[in-house]
Amino acid sequence: MLDLQNSLAHPLVIRREDYTPPEWLVPETSLDFVLDPSTTRVTATLSVTRNGDHASPLRLDGAGQKPLSVTVDGVAINDWRIDGEQLVIPLAGAAHVVETQVEIAPDRNTQLMGLYASGGNLCTQCEAEGFRRITYFPDRPDVLSVYSVRMTADRTHFPVLLANGDPVAQGQLDDGRHWATWHDPFPKPSYLFALVAGDLAVNRGRFTTMSGREVSLGIWVREADLPKTDHALKALELAMAWDETTYGREYDLDVFNIVAVDDFNFGAMENKGLNIFNSRYILADPDTATDYDYDAIAAVVAHEYFHNWSGNRITCRDWFQLSLKEGFTVYRDQGFSADQGSRAVKRIEDVRGLRASQFPEDSGPLAHPVRPESYQEISNFYTATIYNKGAELIRMMAAILGPQGFRAGTDLYFDRYDGTAATCEDFVTSMEEGGKVDLTQFRLWYSQAGTPRVSANLTYETGVSPDGDRAMLRLAQQVPSTPGQPVKSPMVLPLRVRLFGADSGLPLTDERLILFDDTLETVVFDGITERPVLSINRGFSAPVVVESNRTAADLAFLSAHDDDPFARYEAMQQLMLDTLVASAQGRPDHADVIAAVANTLDNAELDLAFVAEAVLLPSESFIGDQMPIVDPEAIFRARESLRRDLGTQLEAQWRTAYARAEGQPYTYTPEGKGLRRLRTVALGYIAASGADDAADLAFAQFESADNMTDRMGALTTLVSSESGIRTTALDIFYSQYCDNALVLDKWFQAQALSSRDDTGAIVAGLAEHADFSLSNPNRARSLIGAFGANQRAFNNMDGSGYRFLADQLVALDRLNPQTAAKLLPPLGRWRRFDSARAGLMRAELERIVATPGLSKDLFEQASKSLE
Ligand code: PHE
Ligand code: ZN
Repeated sequence: MLDLQNSLAHPLVIRREDYTPPEWLVPETSLDFVLDPSTTRVTATLSVTRNGDHASPLRLDGAGQKPLSVTVDGVAINDWRIDGEQLVIPLAGAAHVVETQVEIAPDRNTQLMGLYASGGNLCTQCEAEGFRRITYFPDRPDVLSVYSVRMTADRTHFPVLLANGDPVAQGQLDDGRHWATWHDPFPKPSYLFALVAGDLAVNRGRFTTMSGREVSLGIWVREADLPKTDHALKALELAMAWDETTYGREYDLDVFNIVAVDDFNFGAMENKGLNIFNSRYILADPDTATDYDYDAIAAVVAHEYFHNWSGNRITCRDWFQLSLKEGFTVYRDQGFSADQGSRAVKRIEDVRGLRASQFPEDSGPLAHPVRPESYQEISNFYTATIYNKGAELIRMMAAILGPQGFRAGTDLYFDRYDGTAATCEDFVTSMEEGGKVDLTQFRLWYSQAGTPRVSANLTYETGVSPDGDRAMLRLAQQVPSTPGQPVKSPMVLPLRVRLFGADSGLPLTDERLILFDDTLETVVFDGITERPVLSINRGFSAPVVVESNRTAADLAFLSAHDDDPFARYEAMQQLMLDTLVASAQGRPDHADVIAAVANTLDNAELDLAFVAEAVLLPSESFIGDQMPIVDPEAIFRARESLRRDLGTQLEAQWRTAYARAEGQPYTYTPEGKGLRRLRTVALGYIAASGADDAADLAFAQFESADNMTDRMGALTTLVSSESGIRTTALDIFYSQYCDNALVLDKWFQAQALSSRDDTGAIVAGLAEHADFSLSNPNRARSLIGAFGANQRAFNNMDGSGYRFLADQLVALDRLNPQTAAKLLPPLGRWRRFDSARAGLMRAELERIVATPGLSKDLFEQASKSLE
């Protein structure tokens, strides 16, 4: 019954194999906006041409609106019809000019798709299918058009009028309004359209491209935020230079504008020449933004800028190819960030992120290939798989091709597909031709979902070979089944491998890149002179799970001796994970971890940011991912007990590490960041030790901090404590920052991530707080998203966490389906839990699916999660 009812409401599954080229093209588009928050009139003039030999009418996508008028070649017609959401116009010839007029209401647009109001300004968001909410259009990425835009608006409320491309003209009207026209010479798909009308101030920069083009850069924000835009502007300039030196790509217009808005569904959007950003990825000063925020701002600014080539000049043929632009652009922004600071620390952070979001996705009900085969709602496919696993695919190809081959491949790709809507296949073909390699089997990475598992078994035999002893590495791979893909073929796994001598501590071999492409394979190492220890998947060269026969002693050895910093980190993580899983299953033995952490803390050659990463325990959810059935309470207790032992047994070392940052002035440099990071990690361990002065120490740091990193570091520690100072700190923080939405988000988030027993109740209370609102996506995520990520609190035995999330999602869905759907995945993890919890989770999913009027966004995610 339910299924029938909802399959009527949500009938459409879109399939990749059904792709057909557009029947009509739109070489030119001219848009006229008479802007007003309550009623905006949009007149669209499309020059359309018939594509191929067919007699089909023109079909334009819409979303809810009705045309006020339709003309063809200047003559009003009335034989148009509405079919579903489409406007169907019969056309006789091969080329026509079609004009439509519609009215839309930006201030009632709570979905934040199309034209909407944010903080008194008007802005657009069109990816993936938002343009159809603005005007009738073939709203698909393979219809490229040259846009001219005219905007008219009240001069006082909307003194700034921006659109894609270059400004052409502007003028005043007698009635208090003004107008501006913009022209974008580069043909683009509708999802890259943007306009902004508002009361904004600008921070200007200049950039001269490698061929001598002078580009005017502008970061537009509300006047009061202008002092917080220098970091983003600097990042933009660095990114523009980096793309020239690294990929030979330069900017192509005279202006590049970025606008920050407070209400935004994602991080930012790469609209041609007019990027629109969630303000959290623009605004920063030391008092309000953490080091993490600064890094994220630079990464997102670079990411959106890089899309100008990987996304805009070359776009996607259809949305199944989304990773063509997203995976590649994430890979590019990761490379940029790595070049700004420590490569190793950046890689550690990226892998941590992949394991926190993509691995669970890939092993759950929403698993999908990097190039999906079908979807109901494309907004649900802006996932960690498309973005982050997609980036890993590019990274593997770069490893296989080597730096020169990879650059030849990207040059070929950019040259050959410039100005077109391309496919993932086009990218792989370019890599093959440019790098002169065969990637036939590699293509499985695009079509098969699931995280491959590798088992690696190293054995050592003496006296078998004349030129020394022999080591044998036996590899086996298995790609787990995922929804719709029960059986998998073996994939190409590029594994960087090196052997080290257990006694000497020295490398016994060079690093080898093994392309492991079968179910089983044995790799032989001859001339081995002492017992070898295996360093494998160095630099995380393949996004896989590795199980090996390495002992705790081997892992401790690698954590101290491996020459690949990522592999050192990885060995330490594996040692910690093995210890924690055993301990959650009732077999605690902390000695090896404590010795390895002590050793790392004592090593004066390591950079501090690396040390801070290396001594941090794996998250509760990552520990859970290693267990057949997640036991959130046992995991929490095991982790806390290891934290306590580390805290007490290494107390002197934590205090030394903590004191290193004492009296150091704030600088946003890799060294400064490292000092602060280690300081906060050390504070956490001092608190975990139960030391009497821990809360006072944290509070003193909280009060004396001259930057948000130290302040949040202290607050995060206090928020989980039982000390009475906790509420004092929260109240001080609140009264100091209640007018700053981005900082207040941190206040909500920190409480939702707390490890206290009463976190569920606190979060439920915060949902009633006067400053909480579901209509702002950042705020919704800061509480509901963070709570869903708090494994122990969310999975409370009594089911209150599940009920809370479902209630919030149903309420949020009425306002903003995209954001609601994004927050659902924690409920879909029921298979990973005991039957009592699984039953409670399923009941909430069923309640969501049965909700009348549910969006297709939330319906798709909830119904798939039940399967
Ligand atoms: N294309 C944007 C990016 O990755 C993300 C985005 C998707 C933003 C959909 C808004 C809506 O940079
Ligand atoms: Zn992107």
